[in-house]
Amino acid sequence: MKGRAKIPRPTVKRLSLYLRELESRAVRQPRTISSRQLGAALGLTDAQVRKDLAHFGQFGHPGIGYRFDELMTELRRILGTDRSWNAVVVGAGNIGRAVVSYGRLEGKGFCIKSVFDVDPAIVGTTINGHVVHPVDELTDRVSADEAEIGMVAVPAEVAQPVADALVDAGVRGLLNFAPVRLRVAPDVAIVSVDLTVSLEQLAYKIALGLTGETAEANGDAHQ
Ligand code: NAI
Repeated sequence: MKGRAKIPRPTVKRLSLYLRELESRAVRQPRTISSRQLGAALGLTDAQVRKDLAHFGQFGHPGIGYRFDELMTELRRILGTDRSWNAVVVGAGNIGRAVVSYGRLEGKGFCIKSVFDVDPAIVGTTINGHVVHPVDELTDRVSADEAEIGMVAVPAEVAQPVADALVDAGVRGLLNFAPVRLRVAPDVAIVSVDLTVSLEQLAYKIALGLTGETAEANGDAHQ
């Protein structure tokens, strides 16, 4: 595989879309798909599909196209979803509860091991089978859980110290829901989820007439 660090973010986003499309066709025959078919399903050209996949090697077979199982395996490997990831959630308010209650993360390889909060009224309660632990136990539990992902679902003003505590405890990546830019060491991965930014992007797209699936697949939406 060529240097993954240099892969454009819209390409990486499209890999997830390719995988989702292939998974949605999981029971269909034949078990092959051409770049034209895959592109057409997502509003992309076949050249775009081939260019995206070429970043990672040669998966296609002349005259056959891509073999489903082979391409899904490769895409999962590239995206890092061919293995399971242990995660913890800090903040068991509206967002934290919604994440912990979402039943499909585990099926996608993301296993929530522990949930933390500071509020004595919340600590000790159970969300979707997870007891909420006091945040003082974060360091010990992250280590015991072998958690590599920390989800930050606390108010903005405490998001940085919570992120620092997670990183010190050993997580390698943060999913940040707080509306604040977190500072992390270069070896820590971070992805922020911000509904407001997404809504602003949507308003911008409506205003500019950037409509339809093509604009989405081309990475015009938020990263
Ligand atoms: P919330 O107030 O319902 O929940 C926050 C929880 O964090 C509370 O249970 C609180 O006790 C806990 N908490 C506070 N300090 C803590 C600490 N030091 N350690 C552990 N837990 C602590 O808030 P909500 O609505 O769940 O929002 C959470 C965060 O997500 C906020 O930063 C909010 O601005 C943001 N947010 C993000 C959205 C998005 O699209 N990403 C949408 C809405 C909110």
